[in-house]
Amino acid sequence: MEKIRIQKIIADAGYCSRRKAEELILQKRVKVNGHPAITGQKLDPVRDIITIDGEKLYYQRKKQHVYLMMNKPRGYLTSMSDDRGRRCVTELLPETNVRVYPIGRLDLNTEGLLLFTSDGKFANDMMHPSRSVSKTYRVTVRPDITDEQAVKLSEGVMIDGRVTAPAEVRVLTKEKNRVVIEIVIREGRNRQVRKMCEAVGLEVARLKRTAFGPLRLGMLKPSTCRPLTAEELKAIRSAVKKPTK
Ligand code: URA
Repeated sequence: MEKIRIQKIIADAGYCSRRKAEELILQKRVKVNGHPAITGQKLDPVRDIITIDGEKLYYQRKKQHVYLMMNKPRGYLTSMSDDRGRRCVTELLPETNVRVYPIGRLDLNTEGLLLFTSDGKFANDMMHPSRSVSKTYRVTVRPDITDEQAVKLSEGVMIDGRVTAPAEVRVLTKEKNRVVIEIVIREGRNRQVRKMCEAVGLEVARLKRTAFGPLRLGMLKPSTCRPLTAEELKAIRSAVKKPTK
């Protein structure tokens, strides 16, 4: 097992803060294998015996949170289980002993980037309406899109009695009877993209989320998951705006 600084071991065990642990060490109340501890000394928390005021410290490694990205396929519910027996995204998760939950949801027939985590605070931060993480969707519409429809989508349309916030809209490809557009929104209302398209008279043939803030789906295969990298986690954390008071 890797060696860890004594004050971190004491703090991770939940005994007190690192600073308080340093005080205890200076006060000679902490011993390692029977000898007075030294601030900053590195130990194996499983093998070395630490006592504080004569009592053995029981070390438990802090649980590491899990952060995953899935390429959700069509036909799966964003739900932990379904009493009607429909397929759920949880069936596609890797076997772990940590319980993870989806961050937000994608409709049954929407595909693409879906995040999962065991970290409740992180999930709340991502989903809180006051934090405006962008979501990018690739939308296949039929048969065509006019400039007027694109402008309306970007300026805001009325759905469920409320106008949507400005969105970025651009046409990616145009074929006969089929246009692929990209829409970037910052809200997360129920079936928002489908309702926005419906409101301007567009028929959605396919809807896929390709990015969540700075996180990109890339070449992740449908129905598979991968952990976020340390860089991705850092990027998404800093993309979450602090709420304005
Ligand atoms: N907008 C939708 O209409 N559906 C989704 O799943 C996500 C965004």
